[in-house]
Amino acid sequence: MAKMWAGRFKKEVDEKVNDFNSSISFDARMYRQDIQGSIAHATMLGATGIIATSEADSLVKGLKGILADLDAGQLEFDPTAEDIHMFVEAELTKRLGDTGKRLHTARSRNDQVALDFKMYLKDEAAEIKSITAELVRTLYTLAEQHLDTILPGYTHLQRAQPVTFAHHLMAYVQMFLRDIDRLNDCCKRLDLMPLGSCALAATTYPIDRQMVSDLLGFSAPTQNSLDGVSDRDYAIELTSVLATLMMHLSRLSEEIIQWCSWEFKFIELDDAYATGSSIMPQKKNPDITELVRGKTGRVVGDLVTLLSMMKGLPLAYNKDMQEDKEATFDAIDTAKLCITTMTPMLQTMRVLKDNMRKAAAKGFINATDCADYLVKKGLPFRDAYKITGELVAICIDQDKTLETLELATYKQVCETFEEDIYEAIDLLTCVNGRDTLGGPSAKSVTAQIAAAKQQLNTLMEG
Ligand code: ARG
Repeated sequence: MAKMWAGRFKKEVDEKVNDFNSSISFDARMYRQDIQGSIAHATMLGATGIIATSEADSLVKGLKGILADLDAGQLEFDPTAEDIHMFVEAELTKRLGDTGKRLHTARSRNDQVALDFKMYLKDEAAEIKSITAELVRTLYTLAEQHLDTILPGYTHLQRAQPVTFAHHLMAYVQMFLRDIDRLNDCCKRLDLMPLGSCALAATTYPIDRQMVSDLLGFSAPTQNSLDGVSDRDYAIELTSVLATLMMHLSRLSEEIIQWCSWEFKFIELDDAYATGSSIMPQKKNPDITELVRGKTGRVVGDLVTLLSMMKGLPLAYNKDMQEDKEATFDAIDTAKLCITTMTPMLQTMRVLKDNMRKAAAKGFINATDCADYLVKKGLPFRDAYKITGELVAICIDQDKTLETLELATYKQVCETFEEDIYEAIDLLTCVNGRDTLGGPSAKSVTAQIAAAKQQLNTLMEG
């Protein structure tokens, strides 16, 4: 494709350099935003009298035609074009002749690419918000079904104190709600419109930036032309939100991987969401979750790519910044794929309540409650703690649990124990006794779920 800037050059650009320089293979995906941005720009050029209204009208019509043809698959991207912006403009000039050449008045590709990128990321952020909301709904719906499903809670991956499966799932709900909140926050800065910054120093034409901003649904135009063309914070912020979201998905994945193992067997994945082994016929592997865990590294890498690419750049636009797109798009594609694959996997997995309950019975996770029982009967906590430690040692010796240890043995260690100890250390009693705000009791978790639903609604409006 002939270069629009060929006038200054005596030779054609080397073919390899052309390929090296070209971004159309990855920025073509912004064609809709590029054309919508150009339609708004042309409309503004006509309204301000910078070009004739009739010319603005034909530019808009021409651009709409290109958009329709690209949407219908009737127009193909030219792989030799320098980028999507050059491709659309060249196609427009092919269709309209000289009028097409007026579109780029009072504009540069530097502000154009910033505009397209922001518009594209706004659309993607909205979609990521909506699929993350679906993930949140999936998690709290599952939680509603497991308010009394006892699960051992762990610290250091050692059984610690009893919680419920509902409480555990709701911890993830909090993480993903924060991710949506961060998406909203990042969208505030994505919502500032850079067109009119031009190459770097704005323009002498009497453009109306507010009009373009309004036409494209932005909240306001950007305030500084140098910053308008050289800011990529919004891509870094979005990728950082996605890296954090992936880290959350990866932690959930790691737990699911453990829960699927024979050692835990707390859940079983639906056959549609698991894979087999080519050699070991008995295997059912949680590949999805392992891939999510693996792909998290990739998104973190995308964030590092962007930060490293930007850190040494003087103002204003530098071609290094063309590298922003592949990293950001990769982070978006990867996160979307992971969220939309994990959600139905969670919806279809089987929760093996009895195995959770059995595991909870084993690790003396009611030992704290046993000590608290003595405290409630008047003993100082440190004495109660020591007595309970002795009881645990006896249980280990006799291969018993605190639930199966005879009252006589309890009494040998401390006279204060009565028959009601068994009720006090019952796992459901232990869980439901923790009914403070944020606790694992059915009552607390029910309140948690209601609050999460409300917060989700508020965040989705934001
Ligand atoms: N394709 C470029 C990018 O993605 C846009 C063009 C920038 N302008 C320039 N003068 N090279 O960043």
